[in-house]
Amino acid sequence: MEKEFDRREEDIANFVGLEHTNVRVPDQRLATLFYVEGMGFTRDPYMVPGVKNMWMNIGRTQIHLPTGKAQVIPGCTGIVIPDIKALRSRLKAVEKELKGTNYAFKFGRNRIDVTCPWGNKYSCFPPNKKFGRITLGIRYVELNCRPGTADGIAKFYNLIMGAKAGVRRSGGVAAHVHAGHHQWIIFRETNTKIPRFDGHHIQVYLANFSAPHAALKEIGLVSEENNQYQYRFKHIVDLQNGKKLHTLEHEIRSMTHPLYGRPMINRNPNQHNNNYAAGHSDRAFMLEGEELR
Ligand SMILES: [Fe+2]
Repeated sequence: MEKEFDRREEDIANFVGLEHTNVRVPDQRLATLFYVEGMGFTRDPYMVPGVKNMWMNIGRTQIHLPTGKAQVIPGCTGIVIPDIKALRSRLKAVEKELKGTNYAFKFGRNRIDVTCPWGNKYSCFPPNKKFGRITLGIRYVELNCRPGTADGIAKFYNLIMGAKAGVRRSGGVAAHVHAGHHQWIIFRETNTKIPRFDGHHIQVYLANFSAPHAALKEIGLVSEENNQYQYRFKHIVDLQNGKKLHTLEHEIRSMTHPLYGRPMINRNPNQHNNNYAAGHSDRAFMLEGEELR
């Protein structure tokens, strides 16, 4: 008998990938200590290699860190990282030098919660089949949102952006927006105060690039026209009354953007001069040899 496949499992709707988050950092040296030495990410050697900005490669995803007044995403970014035990040692090793900042980490069962020197929160998970074949990469960006806004936010992403989005109500109320292969943008309702928007952004690639642009333009929400392949918007609104539900800058790129699918270098952070092993300097970011289902 022929095997049956659930073809819907592979549908990703209009959001093809969540590639980067962007937060300003006031000190590139401390950012290097945290993101390169502590987290074990790889600085992009090709793009912005100077002292004014730094792009951190995490598998096929990135965190961009231009110099400036610190920005904090109100919520948490979920990241898959192989070898959680080694991450634990690296985080301990940079503790002394990051003393006096917001730097913190907490080891849980199968996860490590980390706070960067300026307050950005990262939850790190070991690879798991439920995350797909990815062993290194941004899995989700979770944002705190106001009570009563999740339904409207999901509707906005469905109708304006052509995304697959819905509201889940188990363990709190949250809008889940499918942002790529095993990737999500999550808006979690909370009673805690949401700070004033500070200019941070996320970047996504869209398959249908023009229809959301036309829909956003019609309701006056396009905030920047960057170039042929990229535009931005900030406000997510209630489509019935136009009221703002949440502010998050989105850098929207087409799949024809020159940077789409660019190969990224990922090093193996376990390599040191004292334990160097030839041929082990690159880190794979997908599970090896898994039989295709
Ligand atoms: Fe960006």
